[in-house]
Amino acid sequence: MKRLLYISTARSILPPSELDVLLTKSRKANAMADITGLLVVGGRRFLQVLDGPEEAVAETYARISRDPRHVALVKLHDKEVPMRAFGSWAMGCEQGGVAAASASASLEEQVYAIIAPITDPTLRAYFMGFAETHTRM
Ligand SMILES: Cc1cc2nc3c(=O)[nH]c(=O)nc-3n(C[C@H](O)[C@H](O)[C@H](O)COP(=O)(O)O)c2cc1C
Repeated sequence: MKRLLYISTARSILPPSELDVLLTKSRKANAMADITGLLVVGGRRFLQVLDGPEEAVAETYARISRDPRHVALVKLHDKEVPMRAFGSWAMGCEQGGVAAASASASLEEQVYAIIAPITDPTLRAYFMGFAETHTRM
């Protein structure tokens, strides 16, 4: 089982409707490819983890990295893991920044809740650091 984690920057903030379409398509494609994961959106930044069979993760990441809606992708890790971090989610998503500015729970609180079952300390640290930074945007 491979785990790939990356950050990237949107060329411009995705309107909620476009993010919805992106998620619907991604979940369908990921389910077919046996990929699970989480996408956190903080303003213009994305943090995404993809778990799945090595080839499927590589192919999906190659496609994502060609997507003109974001730039400056940086792989944070790409490693063999014993099990999935996000059980059965084809792609969970948490959104902070502009869209959630008036929501009662901050991105930090939402991410904290969503990563509660994760045991990988490095993965936890990346998501918490990202949420702390982008909650204040
Ligand atoms: C931040 C971000 C995350 C994405 N995550 C996924 C994903 O998990 N799975 C997926 O199939 N496509 C994902 N996409 C969409 C792909 O980049 C691509 O648009 C989609 O797979 C359709 O590719 P195609 O037009 O080459 O068929 C993501 C795009 C962005 C900008």
